[in-house]
Amino acid sequence: MKGHFYIATMGCQMNENDTDTLAQFLINYGYNPVESHEDADLILINTCTVREKARQKAVSLLGRMIALKKRRPDIILGIMGCVAQQEGPMLLKKYPELDLVLGTREIGNITGILNRIEENGERVVATDLSADNAIPVIHDGYFKGRLKGYISIMEGCNNFCSYCIVPYVRGREKSFSPQYILAQAENLISQGIMEITLLGQNVNSYLSSEGNSVNFPKLIRMISPLKGLYRIRFTTSHPKDLSDELIKCFRDINNLCPHIHLPFQSGSNRVLKMMNRVYTKETYIGLINKLRDARPDIAVTSDVIVGFPGETDNDFMMTIDLMEKIEFDNLFSFVYSDRKGTSAEKMDNKISDEIKLSRLNKLQGLQKEITLKKNKMLEGKEEEILVEGLSKKMDQFTGRTPGNKIVNFTSNKNIIGQLVKIKIERSSINSLQGILINN
Ligand code: SAH
Ligand code: SF4
Ligand code: F3S
Repeated sequence: MKGHFYIATMGCQMNENDTDTLAQFLINYGYNPVESHEDADLILINTCTVREKARQKAVSLLGRMIALKKRRPDIILGIMGCVAQQEGPMLLKKYPELDLVLGTREIGNITGILNRIEENGERVVATDLSADNAIPVIHDGYFKGRLKGYISIMEGCNNFCSYCIVPYVRGREKSFSPQYILAQAENLISQGIMEITLLGQNVNSYLSSEGNSVNFPKLIRMISPLKGLYRIRFTTSHPKDLSDELIKCFRDINNLCPHIHLPFQSGSNRVLKMMNRVYTKETYIGLINKLRDARPDIAVTSDVIVGFPGETDNDFMMTIDLMEKIEFDNLFSFVYSDRKGTSAEKMDNKISDEIKLSRLNKLQGLQKEITLKKNKMLEGKEEEILVEGLSKKMDQFTGRTPGNKIVNFTSNKNIIGQLVKIKIERSSINSLQGILINN
């Protein structure tokens, strides 16, 4: 046994997936996972830098771990994820306590790297972005006890939206082979996973050209018949690559959940152009109409940025107008944040914090009303819930609808891991309250 490891994870599902992959490597290499950094001999911080706030969170945790390392110099301390990729060797220079900077495509090399640190006391920076990160399932049983799993079907991004740092920290798009993805899915299902989310920055542009070329809709059709797979989800989609063929999947495929996360970012065509998003408000609305025709109960969630450089009151009103027209089930809203090296960073007419925050408040107020209205529409309806565990207050069971809404309800039997029918009785902004109708 090598000792104990702890990985602190921030950022998106891609990072969570990377943490799980790395953890499996570490277990195979001889380390054991622990629940707290206090008990660990190897501590890794998996970081996000999509907005400045995310980066600050990472740096502040790093500071606390460095303080710990000063007390216990025997600890191996590493940083991974998107801050590590972006800042690379600078981090080792700045923080003498840091042993390792592990880039986003270096996860598969972790054991060799750790060996160098353990044996020779080296300090290592590994941030090659050209590597291929597809890694086969390596630790059978790691996911036992979980009901929901994810598979990274592609990595990287080619879109270079002008505000976004992801293409710089995740490299160019690379799709993994359908064979690899199917093997991952079968392995997860064999460990008890009932719901799989297919992950990528832009899953719609998935394309494997090995042998017969397979695009994203074809991939879904290959995976959906797998026995024991009750639910499929995917994230994230880019509107420019949302094809009719994919929309048709929502009509045809039973276990494809009726939910799409389709970030729109802005309702102003002028701003969308500056963002390099290559669609208009009108084409976006057209896509949502097609999706709702194909699957009337589809839940639509989205991301939006307020205060992009040059955004006028009128541009902002276009965003509000789009929100009113679409009525998203849920919306993740962010104030624009400059990211180093992006083209938006170099744009003029930056918006003041004051205006950004006042726009954000207005937008979030409106979305609260819409979310509540959408949730109220479910009252009296029956929904199928995958029971995931106990609610936050631990007094009820909790699970999600196919549209990904949280439902709490009581049951005198333990029904975790079952698909049950629930009648929705009451709804609030964050969750629904229901009663069990069959068991
Ligand atoms: N690949 C996904 C999203 C990646 S980042 C996609 O293309 O939709 C998640 C969200 O963070 C984005 O949708 C965007 O709304 C937000 N975001 C990205 N960069 C940002 C920045 N510089 N400032 C504020 N929000 C940002
Ligand atoms: Fe960023 Fe745009 Fe790529 Fe999404 S599609 S990761 S927002 S560059
Ligand atoms: Fe953040 Fe990297 Fe994901 S920047 S959002 S962790 S791809």
